[in-house]
Amino acid sequence: MTTIRLLTLAAPFVAVGLIATDGTSQQGADRSGAPHGATAFAAQQQLVDRLGTTTPGSVPAGVDAGFWRVFAYEPDTADQVALGRKLFFDPRLSRDGTVSCATCHDVARSFTDLRPVSEGIDGQLGRRNAPTVMNAAMIEPLFWDGRSPTLAHQAGQPVLNPIEMGMSDRDAVVAKLAGTEYAGEFERAFGRAVHYDDIQNALAAFQRTLIFLDAPFDRWRAGDESAIGDDAKLGFELFHGKARCAACHPINATNPLGTDYRFHNIGVSAHDKDFEGLAEKALRALDADASEQQLDRLALSTDMSELGRFMVTRNYADVGSFRTPQLRNIGITAPYMHDGSMQTLWDTIDHYNKGGEVNSWLDGGIEALALTEPEIDQLVAFLFTLTDVRFADQNAAAMAKQQQHKAANRPFRDDARASRSTLVFEDRVPTGGK
Ligand code: HEC
Ligand code: HEC
Repeated sequence: MTTIRLLTLAAPFVAVGLIATDGTSQQGADRSGAPHGATAFAAQQQLVDRLGTTTPGSVPAGVDAGFWRVFAYEPDTADQVALGRKLFFDPRLSRDGTVSCATCHDVARSFTDLRPVSEGIDGQLGRRNAPTVMNAAMIEPLFWDGRSPTLAHQAGQPVLNPIEMGMSDRDAVVAKLAGTEYAGEFERAFGRAVHYDDIQNALAAFQRTLIFLDAPFDRWRAGDESAIGDDAKLGFELFHGKARCAACHPINATNPLGTDYRFHNIGVSAHDKDFEGLAEKALRALDADASEQQLDRLALSTDMSELGRFMVTRNYADVGSFRTPQLRNIGITAPYMHDGSMQTLWDTIDHYNKGGEVNSWLDGGIEALALTEPEIDQLVAFLFTLTDVRFADQNAAAMAKQQQHKAANRPFRDDARASRSTLVFEDRVPTGGK
């Protein structure tokens, strides 16, 4: 039933040409696009309608009903979802009226911006890659460093961040909305006048409808042998075996996102040599002001961003650690990692195959894997089966694009190094100064 509905839905996506597989090829959408290169907000909303989001009280496609009943024990009302949806696409929530949530979580770009790092008001660039908000409802804590405990709390941060939406404070946001048609809409949804908490609650309610967990992988697990290819099946075995991915990215019926919700230093930011200096600097800045807004600002717009979880806990063991990201819809959310530093899924597996970049805080679970080229291809094939069927066309296009990039960047892939079976520090033999 679901399959048929989805197949008939696939055609209009192609026809409208809205779905982008990179930040540039948007065809018609660009001409009437929103500021900062986003897809026009009205067009994005049409796309939400066509995608078919989850109605409060019903079970999303591909999700175990028992699991969902526990998760969504208190459904949002239709008025709350509608209000949150309107706010999500409304640039009035930003200081200069150019940025909405959908600027960086663009529906036509897999609910992210497909850029290494995001652009906010006045064209300011942050230090972190925007994760997709698909399935974010099922993640806690939020942000790469877990500095936000809940989805509703998270929604309050970008509005006040000086480089994202730049509003001066909560009162200014409430005042801006109170004099508009929103007044009645907040009354209807929450039974009171515009309140900052309810802006956050409504945005969370809308995002709880963005569950995209109906992938070929799930259909294969449910018994359809033809849902994914043999290479992907072998990749799934490697994922649990030789490649050891499941240690941090467990994926099963009750933990469908492929994350352990924990923090690890896997050596992505280790190219920054002075972790100690940065940590000192962060401690001084947080001594002066430990507010959540200060933390949000330091994480998004300073070099201290690379400290990751340490900024939240101030525990030295957490230097350079980031939350294990979900692997759902991963094929269509490049570039990868907290700093958007990896272009393709092949690049991410190369990173693991080499054992990460060595640094004093590297997670014990990261070591050289000695995966062969065919094995790397199988792992990538498996990862591409985690994309929801509603994005099947986009997934196929993204895979083709990543394959091309891989072929063109062959010299980056140092096979001797990638396949070694000793750790980096093991081959660091003293050279006697030579
Ligand atoms: C200027 C770009 C930008 C805007 C505007 C923006 N975001 Fe984000 N969003 C990001 C970036 C970058 C991150 C990651 C930041 C971090 O982890 O430190 C993020 C993270 C998130 C997350 C956490 C996802 C996860 O996996 O942890 C959610 C949820 C989210 N944003 C929702 C929103 C909502 C709701 C709005 C509007 C109120 C919004 N964003 C506005 C760029 C943006
Ligand atoms: C020790 C825990 C750990 C192991 C083992 C691990 N990962 Fe990760 N993974 C992480 C963390 C943490 C990040 C984010 C790191 C960062 O951004 O600095 C990540 C990021 C990723 C990303 C990028 C996601 C995104 O949205 O940007 C992919 C893809 C990925 N891992 C796949 C794999 C695969 C495939 C394997 C097995 C070869 C694997 N991981 C093994 C913890 C782990």
